Amino acid sequence: MEQFLSLKELGSRLYKVDMLVVALLKRRMDLALQVGEFKVRNGQKIFRASVESKRLAQVKAEARKRNLSQHFAASILYQAINESCKQQMIQLQNTNARRHKKAKTEKESYRLLKKNLLLLTRRWADSYDDQYDKAFFATHAYLDFEDQILEQEIRQIADRGIALDLGCATGRLSTKLSPSFRWVYGYDLSPHMLMKANAKEKKVQNVSFIEADLEKGIPQSDSSVSFVAMNLGTASDIRDISGVLKEVKRVLVSGGRFFFSFYNREALLYQWDFIPWPVGLAAEINIHKHCLDVHLGAKVLSVYARPYTSKEARNLFPKGMKLSKVLTHPTISSILPNNLFEGKASIQKSVADIDRHLAKAHDGAYIIVTGKKM
Ligand SMILES: C[S@@+](CC[C@H](N)C(=O)[O-])C[C@H]1O[C@@H](n2cnc3c(N)ncnc32)[C@H](O)[C@@H]1O
Repeated sequence: MEQFLSLKELGSRLYKVDMLVVALLKRRMDLALQVGEFKVRNGQKIFRASVESKRLAQVKAEARKRNLSQHFAASILYQAINESCKQQMIQLQNTNARRHKKAKTEKESYRLLKKNLLLLTRRWADSYDDQYDKAFFATHAYLDFEDQILEQEIRQIADRGIALDLGCATGRLSTKLSPSFRWVYGYDLSPHMLMKANAKEKKVQNVSFIEADLEKGIPQSDSSVSFVAMNLGTASDIRDISGVLKEVKRVLVSGGRFFFSFYNREALLYQWDFIPWPVGLAAEINIHKHCLDVHLGAKVLSVYARPYTSKEARNLFPKGMKLSKVLTHPTISSILPNNLFEGKASIQKSVADIDRHLAKAHDGAYIIVTGKKM
């Protein structure tokens, strides 16, 4: 006998399709903003009638093939084109306004990126922990992987005196490190992130959070630190990372260990021109522009983020900092749709296992480099 789905089941399927439609619209708008940047940079017209007409005709043809009303499909695309052009016009206006006070030197433009970082962290500080703890499977899997490697590194340290968490944000890593060390110092540029971290400091006895720009040096004396960690791609967020690494070498005791995480330019994620679904990574960087584009409404805030190849990351470390591991992670989970993992413990575990096996290849989204000062 033919089985009919209940209205409730059909309704819940419709809901899922609706959510996918929204996710695809978001991907379309992200691409439209990239096109907008290109048009603004090259002085091209925002609305190009012949291009849009061709696109509408293609959509009508595809709709006919799929037995869907062509006018219905074309009207949806028409709305999307309309919104794209509107947002691109806003981009053009913002750029024109910015051009008047355009950064004259590279130093000045970096100062602007840092200002953006402070703006972004101010907006982000409240939701930061929730975002990393819940929403993104691949980022979550990566943080678990980081924890395993961190534990392996810490186990090798005989005298666990002072540990540093560089770019500590809300202090998640510092609080994790605190049971293993006599004292942990978390440093960050952002006062808003540190406000959140300080709320945690009250619950942990041996952690201090301090506002500092790490590019101006690490405020610790020579040969005084047992362990230095910079996790979750933070080493890519700092333009003068070579300078910071020299400082790390200065403050580490002989035999002291380090853990650094960079964005990987060779990641599978960045080898695909376009992935048409929302992936499970919280942060995807723009590998061509050395920045992380964060969309806040119609505004795009760019913060500095430079991806490296594994070889480039290795070469950043000065003589006397001996590397023990260079790994990349996550690989497969970073390109799959995030909703594939929702509530699916066995898929989560299997893909996490595969990604762990792939860590010695070069395709994961982050590069982890560990080692010790000789
Ligand atoms: C990816 S987040 C840090 C991740 C964090 N350790 C965690 O586990 O959640 C990067 C942090 O680095 C900080 N940062 C970026 N540039 C910095 C600089 N020059 N000096 C100090 N902190 C910096 C940012 O404010 C941000 O909070």
